[in-house]
Amino acid sequence: MTKLTRTSTPFSLLALLLALFVSAVAAIYEDDAGVLDWHRTQIGLTSAVYTPAASGASDYVGLYTESDIFAVLHTANGSIAWRRSFADGGVKAHCALSLPGTTEFLIAITRPAGNSILYRTAWADGSLDWELSTMGQITALGSNGEILLVSEASGDIHVVGASGIKQFTVSSNGATVVAIEDGVVFAEKDNTVTLSTVDIDSQSLVEIARFEGSFVSVESDILVLRNDDSLVVVKLDQDSQAIDSITESDAESVAVSEKVVVSKSASGAVTVYDRESLGELNHLEASAATIAPGTESETFAVLTAENELNVINGATNAIISTSKLSVSSPVLIISAVGNDYLVQYSNGILQLVSESNTIWERDESIAASPIAGLFVQLPETAALDTAAGIREEILLDDASDSNANILLAYVKRVTRHLHDLQTFPRYVIRMLQSSFMFVDEVELERANMFGLHQYFVVVSGRTGRVVALDTFLKGGTVWAIDGVNVGSNNGKDTTVNLVETDVYIVTKTGAVTVINALNGEITKTEQILSTDQVVLKVVELPSGLYAWTTSDELVTIHETAPPTEIYYTNRVNEDSAWGYTISAGAEGSLVLTKTWSFNLDHGYAVATTATRPKLDKTINIGQVLEDRSVLYKYLHANLLSIAAISSEDRRLQVFLLDTVTGRVLHAKEHNEVDPARDIALVQGEHWLVYTYTATVPTLGEQLTIWDLYESGKPNQRAYDNGEEYSSFSGLLPEPYVLEKSFLTGISGTAKLGLTVTKHGITVRDVLLLTRSNQVLSYAKPQLLSPITKSPTDKSQNTSMVSPYSFFDHATTLLSQSRKSTVLTYNLPLELAGNTSLLVSAPTALESTTLVAVAGTDVYVVRVTPSKPFDVLNTIAFSKQQLIYTVAAMLVVVGYLRPQVGKKRANAKWGVE
Ligand SMILES: *[C@@H]1O[C@H](CO)[C@@H](O)[C@H](O)[C@H]1NC(C)=O
Ligand SMILES: *[C@@H]1O[C@H](CO)[C@@H](O)[C@H](O)[C@H]1NC(C)=O
Ligand SMILES: *[C@@H]1O[C@H](CO)[C@@H](O)[C@H](O)[C@H]1NC(C)=O
Repeated sequence: MTKLTRTSTPFSLLALLLALFVSAVAAIYEDDAGVLDWHRTQIGLTSAVYTPAASGASDYVGLYTESDIFAVLHTANGSIAWRRSFADGGVKAHCALSLPGTTEFLIAITRPAGNSILYRTAWADGSLDWELSTMGQITALGSNGEILLVSEASGDIHVVGASGIKQFTVSSNGATVVAIEDGVVFAEKDNTVTLSTVDIDSQSLVEIARFEGSFVSVESDILVLRNDDSLVVVKLDQDSQAIDSITESDAESVAVSEKVVVSKSASGAVTVYDRESLGELNHLEASAATIAPGTESETFAVLTAENELNVINGATNAIISTSKLSVSSPVLIISAVGNDYLVQYSNGILQLVSESNTIWERDESIAASPIAGLFVQLPETAALDTAAGIREEILLDDASDSNANILLAYVKRVTRHLHDLQTFPRYVIRMLQSSFMFVDEVELERANMFGLHQYFVVVSGRTGRVVALDTFLKGGTVWAIDGVNVGSNNGKDTTVNLVETDVYIVTKTGAVTVINALNGEITKTEQILSTDQVVLKVVELPSGLYAWTTSDELVTIHETAPPTEIYYTNRVNEDSAWGYTISAGAEGSLVLTKTWSFNLDHGYAVATTATRPKLDKTINIGQVLEDRSVLYKYLHANLLSIAAISSEDRRLQVFLLDTVTGRVLHAKEHNEVDPARDIALVQGEHWLVYTYTATVPTLGEQLTIWDLYESGKPNQRAYDNGEEYSSFSGLLPEPYVLEKSFLTGISGTAKLGLTVTKHGITVRDVLLLTRSNQVLSYAKPQLLSPITKSPTDKSQNTSMVSPYSFFDHATTLLSQSRKSTVLTYNLPLELAGNTSLLVSAPTALESTTLVAVAGTDVYVVRVTPSKPFDVLNTIAFSKQQLIYTVAAMLVVVGYLRPQVGKKRANAKWGVE
């Protein structure tokens, strides 16, 4: 019997009392897990601004963006009133017209095939009045009282009634209609601009005037033409005849205000003319970069190259206001909206500025060609990572042939506990504080502890802006930096890598930018290549990052220690793949040696490739079957899958390559595949999944899955004598492949993804980013899980493995979908642009993984593929209750012990 001293009872009680404080932190709650984290609505960079035609200040402004979205914003606060994306299907051209005297406008969208659709829509809510399809590209829209004029590139002008009924068509005889203004059609052909009106009665086009030059713009009675190197400003009368004109020899642009016409020369000098008489009012030797019409009748705005905005009265030349814009990036568009100016900067910021201050601001850079999205774990989580300490002990234990290791592990544990103890007072104080803290702070602390609080860093290839979003604080911006060199072509050939918490951005020409992801500081910029070299690929080795150049050299980008071993790497271009080894050469240089090459058949091009995610882990080597036998997984660390498509043959080939030897381990061909539709591919532990659209066996998108096993027979390994197989020994068996295909039942899968968790114990989910802007998830075992046939039929072998899954009776994947598999809850999102990213990152909770999609919008959600199994159910498990119970027991023991002792003593004495 252990001896319980008298003093120990109060001590135990004290300890228990302290432990009570600890209780509240312990777990994330069930309803916290798997919740929708946040959704950031974006529209992209503005390329055209439209305002309602009704005069006076307006509540709305319409923007057409580079992401092919038409969005109407509230001018009061910049929030989106509504938006409509035309990106799916592509846009060749667009034009829009605000209908005077109505609350509606027209927007025409021309598709890549050349046909157009015209919509008549309400400003306030985007409700559709009617739509009209035409065969050609719509080039200009005009309204003439009751009728609408719609011109096409072919020169045809449709006369459309207010209710959207086409009445008749006239032709401009091959001239391109460039504008329709106040019922006058401006058509251009052979450096001549012809002005005509449509005669409704005779249903013909009547020419009324003709000018030399090419068309620049028209603003009711001011027509601007370009003739040789000069701009010609023509003042038209009621009947569109020229009254007067001025020729500006070195003018670059002309802005027309209600009362003044302003021209800007290439050198930035500004000349102001009276709109009525075209007489020169003023001349300013300003250094204007951009001029824009003002918000009042006589004013205009001059923007200097230093982003100083001067609002000038054209008549008096007086500067009404001058202010420095709050963002220093170049301005793409400045446009007067109501009494303010809407400014789109090249870094993606959209602002509404008044004379002196910013009314609102939106950061649209994230929507502009995001080339990388990276989850960055915060140091707070790492500090709380006791699992790492335990892992170290286990590692020591594993290698423990000697007692020294056991001792070492023991010492480690004691130190760890001592270390934990040091933080205990702080912990108690925190707990006491937390009762006074805001709920949010407590939540944040918990999110830090469980790794749910991370930064999501997005690199925009269009704007060169890098933004970190807080995954926990609803996607708020933590930091943003501009002017990062992301290369040309919207960052298409730029590589982004995360090394610990440093973001490495490497352009094709060898410009490297290193950003500390925790504070957004650029820690290094350098040019690692000479001008005649190009980066083919960035290779990540345990020793660092290297740029693979055109001359097959490896240039160090970042290195922690010189590499000592030989590594295998590979490179894929449009129609070939090559394998190389990397070995240490003289003086610490690295040598690339080609070992194999793989060429696709003639006419085939690589559609997509995949390898297993770096963070994906294996925890067991077999798959347990129904009869408790085991099918051994074909685990291979060096696999590359390639999907190749032949547009001519409409055939898809999928290969699984061993990247060490270049051997094709498995291949499959699919016929009648639509090469214009998405092909997506993802590779996991011992399997791969891909989607494609085919017409056989039935038209629709299909999903095929390969599961690789060592052998088709349960309990049998590749080599009976227990020999280890590897690519290096030449003893590599071919995998036994179970295959299965489904019809997905959705219109298209833009991207496939995979969830990764911290230790890889949790089931993997396969993620589908659909063309309809939703993310679906399917547990991998539901897709394909080999089971043994139940031994009902004696004639059949009982342990025959076949690709039957739990969902075998499903005709399509979607018919089996439960609501929870739609990770985006059918919210109206804009995700599936062709540059969209689908990223997954582990948290400190094994059950939970963070999934982010960045297309136009950013959407982040927590996913628990095996349900939140490590989440403490606070109803079933109450730490308080346990502690109270133990405390009560101690009290009882404390009270009973003397009595029992007395009784025993009496018994020994023989006294009853
Ligand atoms: C923005 O302003 C509009 C109209 O003034 C209002 O309906 C809307 O709720 C506002 N949005 C936000 C986010 O404040
Ligand atoms: C993305 O779409 C645009 C327009 O639809 C197209 O021009 C471009 O080539 C596409 N990019 C990729 C990578 O498919
Ligand atoms: C069962 O499997 C064994 C070994 O694979 C084979 O020899 C035998 O013919 C099979 N029996 C039936 C009934 O298929």
